[in-house]
Amino acid sequence: MSLSTQRLHADQPGDVDAAAALLRDGKLVAFPTETVYGLGADGLSDDAVARIFAAKGRPADNPLILHVASFDQAQALWDATDDQLAIARALADRFWPGPLTLVLPAAGAVPTVVTAGLKTVAARQPAHDVALELIARCGRPLAAPSANRSSRPSPTLAEHVLRTLDGHIDAVLDGGPTRVGVESTVLDLSRAQPQILRPGDVAAAAIDSVLRGLGTSLVEGPVPTDAASPGVRHRHYAPRALSVALADEEALAAAWSSDDAVMCRRSTAARLGARRAPTEILPDDERDFARELYAALYRLEGSGAEVLHVERLPEDDVWRAVADRLRRAAGDG
Ligand code: TXA
Ligand code: MG
Repeated sequence: MSLSTQRLHADQPGDVDAAAALLRDGKLVAFPTETVYGLGADGLSDDAVARIFAAKGRPADNPLILHVASFDQAQALWDATDDQLAIARALADRFWPGPLTLVLPAAGAVPTVVTAGLKTVAARQPAHDVALELIARCGRPLAAPSANRSSRPSPTLAEHVLRTLDGHIDAVLDGGPTRVGVESTVLDLSRAQPQILRPGDVAAAAIDSVLRGLGTSLVEGPVPTDAASPGVRHRHYAPRALSVALADEEALAAAWSSDDAVMCRRSTAARLGARRAPTEILPDDERDFARELYAALYRLEGSGAEVLHVERLPEDDVWRAVADRLRRAAGDG
């Protein structure tokens, strides 16, 4: 703890400018995107990016996403073949601005600290006016991982950012709650066949249909755990002092009559009845569930419970992103 973290408000005149000025000066500013809050820094400055890793306590082998305000700005970061670029452009036409991150071979100008030494770099154009304005005013791409201490849940409110990073970053730009609530889909376009490295709000089926129009398709099967997907090696999304267990029907029914914390869908809770121990009841709709997930985890950190049983969700295309985050919160791959 050494910095005093400034509170800025996106709806206050001058505050977005102030945030941009800090970023241009090599400082760390958390800002809203449509998915979660990002911890921003000048993406082309070694020093500024190195400070992100220090503030988060992030392992140096986990690369960052560069946030851009246009496809052209992303293209300048990539050293891609014409075929790779054609695919990237078609996907960006369909999904940008939005929660899809594209991984392609990196151009020489991209700092090694951003890519964690990989030959590729990840970029996305966020669908959030404040984020886009900030990038435009900085005039360069912003490196931004989720704005939480490493291993903790991602922030969907400015208040969550302060919960784990107050005193470690220069400012947070408050833009209210984020709309999507889980991080972007990460898609690797650098290999012979496109592959999802992290499921997110943009579903595999939607990506695959664009790819098929271009004569290719997604690699099927589970997310790889090899060096191509460094993010999947590290612990993630873990609430403090709370161990998370995934519960099928039977385990959930047992947990329901215990003093442990429980998180489940509304229809499931309705079946099981009322209870007194800490309970987070989330919506049945997967998008609404995703939007509320991290806030519920942060609330449970303060509940006094030591164990959290989370309803096991279907691993289908609809629930994949949320099921992935909960599985990893449980330390289960
Ligand atoms: O929605 C999001 O993506 C949010 C907002 C702030 O944009 N950002 C985010 O960043 O979730 P982060 O750092 O928490 O997660 C980035 C993921 C990690 O799993 C990382 O390993 C992967 O993207 N990644 C970044 N660059 C990569 C690369 N060159 N190759 C493979 N994976 C990469
Ligand atoms: Mg993260």
